[in-house]
Amino acid sequence: MELGLPFETYVEQYRYKYLALYHAIRTAIHSGKLPEGTRLPATRELAKLYGVSRGSAAQSYDMLMAEGYVVSRPGSGTYVAKGIAMIDQPPAADRAPVLSAWGQRLMEKSGEYASALMSIQEPPLGTISFANARMPIQDFPYSEWRSALSYAGGSGGTQLQSGAPPEGDTELRQAIAGHLRFTRGIQVDPEHIVIFSGSMQGLVLLFQLLVDPGDHVVMEDPGYQGIHRGVSLSGGIPLPSPVDEAGLIPREWDAGLLVVSPSRQYPTGAVLPLERRRALLNWARSRQAFIIEDDYDSEFRWGGKPIEPLKMLDDEGRVIFVGSFSKTMFTGLRIGYAVLPPSLVEAVVQAKALYEPISPAVLEQRALARFIVRGGYGRHLRRMTRLYGARYEALHQAMDAYASDLFCLHSGDAGLHVYANWLRSGEEYAALRDAARNRGVMFRDAAVYHLTPGPPAACFGFSHLDASMIEEGVRRIALAWLDMQKT
Ligand SMILES: Cc1ncc(COP(=O)(O)O)c(C=O)c1O
Repeated sequence: MELGLPFETYVEQYRYKYLALYHAIRTAIHSGKLPEGTRLPATRELAKLYGVSRGSAAQSYDMLMAEGYVVSRPGSGTYVAKGIAMIDQPPAADRAPVLSAWGQRLMEKSGEYASALMSIQEPPLGTISFANARMPIQDFPYSEWRSALSYAGGSGGTQLQSGAPPEGDTELRQAIAGHLRFTRGIQVDPEHIVIFSGSMQGLVLLFQLLVDPGDHVVMEDPGYQGIHRGVSLSGGIPLPSPVDEAGLIPREWDAGLLVVSPSRQYPTGAVLPLERRRALLNWARSRQAFIIEDDYDSEFRWGGKPIEPLKMLDDEGRVIFVGSFSKTMFTGLRIGYAVLPPSLVEAVVQAKALYEPISPAVLEQRALARFIVRGGYGRHLRRMTRLYGARYEALHQAMDAYASDLFCLHSGDAGLHVYANWLRSGEEYAALRDAARNRGVMFRDAAVYHLTPGPPAACFGFSHLDASMIEEGVRRIALAWLDMQKT
C-alpha cells in the first residue's frame, strides 16, 4: 500500500528515520492527504516501503498513537483517527523560528521526548498494558490524603497566602528528613533538602549547575532517557557506561559527574554491591567529582530490608541523593527532592529561585508533610509493597507458564516493573510486538533505555494489574507468538 509520502525530504530534515516517518505521516494526516479512517500499512509493510527497520516503523506508529493521530484496533490494524485533519497547521511564518543553541538542541531531542511522552498515554480500550508502571488508583488511600489536604488548607493561614521559600516548605523538608532517617538510615539535615517540581526538575538544575558544554557525564546504559536528554541539553557529553546483572560497572572515567541508580538500577532492577559502591565513591574522591544518586523507584522493596543508599557511605560530600514521590504517591503530584552536600545548597537554591522564586503547590507540600508525619505515607508504602510483591510473583508465574521460551525475566525484589531479556531474534521481537498489539496486549520496548543498541529486551510494568490481568496479558503474548508461527 503506497502512501505517497515525500519521505526523503523528511529524512534530510529530521535525521532519524522513525522521526522522519512520524512527521511525514503526521503532516499527511493534517493536510487531509490521509483522511480519517484510512487503514495504514502494518509495520512490516511500512518498513519495507520506506527502507527503515521494523523497530523504526513501530516507533513512529507508537508516537502517532500516543498523540492521538492514529488508533490501533486489536486484530484489525492501525487507522487514521477521527477529527484530526487541518486542526493545527501552523502558519508558514511560524515554522522556523531562530532558536538559541540550547533551543536547537532541545528541538533535536524532541523526537526522544515525544516517545517518552508515550508513556503517559492511555492504551486502546480493552488492551492489557504492561507498558507503564503505575499506582493502581483504587488502592490509593484517598480519605487519609484528603484529610491531610484539608488540614494543610485549614491550618496554613497566611503561609498558604505567601507560599514557601524556593527550597520548599519547611515542614515537608523536615518530614522527608525524618522519613529518610527512619526508612533508609540517612542522617539528613532538613536544611540540605531542596524540594522540586518532580525529581526531573532537580536533575536538570543540577546539570545546569555542574556541567559545562563539552564536559563528560557518566550515565548508566541502559538508563533513564531523561538523564541523557538533560545532560545533552546542558551541552554535556553523555558517557554511556555499561550495566551488568550487578548494576553499573565502575571504571576510571575521565569525567566530573556520574548519575547512577544503585538501589535499583533503572531499568534493569540490579542492586549495586558494596564493593562497586566503594569504587564509585573512591573514583569521585580522586576526581573531586559529584555522584547523583537517582533513587527513583526503590521504596517498594518486598524482598527484605531496604538497601542503604550510596549517600550513607558518603563522608566527603560527593553524593547528591535525588528522590521522587511520583511512583509512591501519584504522578500528577510532581514533588521530588534532593539531599545535597552542604557545599551545593546555596547554588541549588539560587538556581531554583531563578525559575521559582516562590515554591509552588504549597498546599500539596504541606499535606504531604502531614501525611508522612502522621504515618499515612509509611502505612501506604507497606500496603503497596505487599500488593506489588504478590503481583511480581504473579508475573513470574505467568511467564513461567506461558512464555518462558520467549522472555527471561530479571529477578528483583523491589519496584514496579520487571526487565526481561528476549530469547529469540531481533526480527522476531519486532514482529511479536506487533502481533501482541493485535492481540490486545502491550509492553515497553527496553530499546528506549539503551544509549548504545543492546540485545532486544522489554519492560513489564505490573503494579497496576491484578493477578488475573497479569496472567491474561502474558497468555495473550503467548497467543500472539502462536499467531506469528501461522503466518
Ligand atoms: C529513573 C528515573 N529518574 C527520574 C525520573 C523523574 O521523575 P519525576 O520527575 O517524576 O520525579 C524518572 C521518571 O520517569 C525516572 O524513570
